[in-house]
Amino acid sequence: MAYDVHKVRDHFPGLKRQMGGRDIVFLDNPAGTQVAQSVLDRMTDCMINTNANLGGFFATSVAAGELVAEAREWAADFLNAASNEIIFGQNMTTLTFAMSRSIGRELQAGDEIVLTRADHDGNVAPWLMLAEDLGLTIRWIDLDTKRFELDLSQLDAVLTPRTRLVAVNYANNITGSITDVKAVSDAAHGVGALVYVDAVQYAPHDIIDVQQLGCDFLACSAYKFYGPHYGILWGKADHLERLTAYKVRAASNAIPDKFVTGTTNREELAGIIGALEHFQWVGREFGDTLETPPSGRNERQALLRAGIEVMKVYDHGLAHQLIAGLKQHDGVRIIGIDDLQNFNRRVSTVSFTHDPHRPEDIVRFMAEHGINVWSGHNYALETIDQLGLTPHGGVVRVGPTHYNTHEEIDRFLDCYDRYLQQR
Ligand SMILES: Cc1ncc(COP(=O)(O)O)c(C=O)c1O
Repeated sequence: MAYDVHKVRDHFPGLKRQMGGRDIVFLDNPAGTQVAQSVLDRMTDCMINTNANLGGFFATSVAAGELVAEAREWAADFLNAASNEIIFGQNMTTLTFAMSRSIGRELQAGDEIVLTRADHDGNVAPWLMLAEDLGLTIRWIDLDTKRFELDLSQLDAVLTPRTRLVAVNYANNITGSITDVKAVSDAAHGVGALVYVDAVQYAPHDIIDVQQLGCDFLACSAYKFYGPHYGILWGKADHLERLTAYKVRAASNAIPDKFVTGTTNREELAGIIGALEHFQWVGREFGDTLETPPSGRNERQALLRAGIEVMKVYDHGLAHQLIAGLKQHDGVRIIGIDDLQNFNRRVSTVSFTHDPHRPEDIVRFMAEHGINVWSGHNYALETIDQLGLTPHGGVVRVGPTHYNTHEEIDRFLDCYDRYLQQR
């Protein structure tokens, strides 16, 4: 069936919110998406029927245990991993701080960590603090500020026999550029370093396959892909077995449970299943529009992947419309890849500046007109700094996703025209 955005929108009750008699336009998706009905259904059902602690002999406890196992299976299919390699936790940042402590137990003063200036602080600060605690050396890979991509030509120079870990993003949350994680993994493994990937901005937009990436850890967050505020961390089983977990003594020593601190937040896990069911539904409904539907190790994975692929094609169309419209204005600078031929190197997140307009003034105006977008550094401190945009107040970031319509992009562009007229 041809892609039907209105059918998709019917699955998102949050999109029905209005301001001044008009639907609110949600283009704040890179900061957090609206939640699919399947997520709400799963979470409600969990809190009614599966509300007990784990390990009991009674029905609600058994059901809760089954739910945790099911959520791990779903997330494993999502990332193409094994279910005992899936750790759920509060969010990407908290999971990364925790794992950085475990990894740090194997490091010594003088060891080196490679970070990038294209990363969100969630994949920078935990490693900076670890370096401070242990006396590690940090080396940086820069952003290529002309191409808006990570300058991977610097990889060879920053990797040394002392490199123990490379922390890198899969997609930048400002430019939308995609990183060649496989190339990073191959190079890092060449010197025996681990690779820790932040896939928070990639996960809503494209298929993740940790087997193909060859990395060691990968983290993402379900609230960026239509689910609840909860994080997922994948780690290779060998590493999870070997590493020491910071945990209470009574907790299991088996993986992945040894990395789960305290009581699992089951309703969030149920919500994650609901979010992945949404991808699956999109795949089932519209997957036949794909020239080559992706394969999978089982039917669920194939459908999940088809849904993501369908969304990607549609999202790119929205991003193209947005960039073309913004470029009509003299002086607008797209902070990212803007030519259609290279769209396979980016996700649909579009950031821009327009001197002398302050990003915050633009997004305030948009908010007054029922259009949700973000401004500032969006926690990509190094990226904004390297682009010289810190004094300027960062960028305006507009993030279309599969439930946005072409009319909404037009509404954003019309509103921007009006903003400019008023200045
Ligand atoms: C690229 C990227 N990494 C990490 C994070 C932090 O994610 P969390 O809120 O799950 O800690 C974000 C949040 O916006 C992000 O965009």
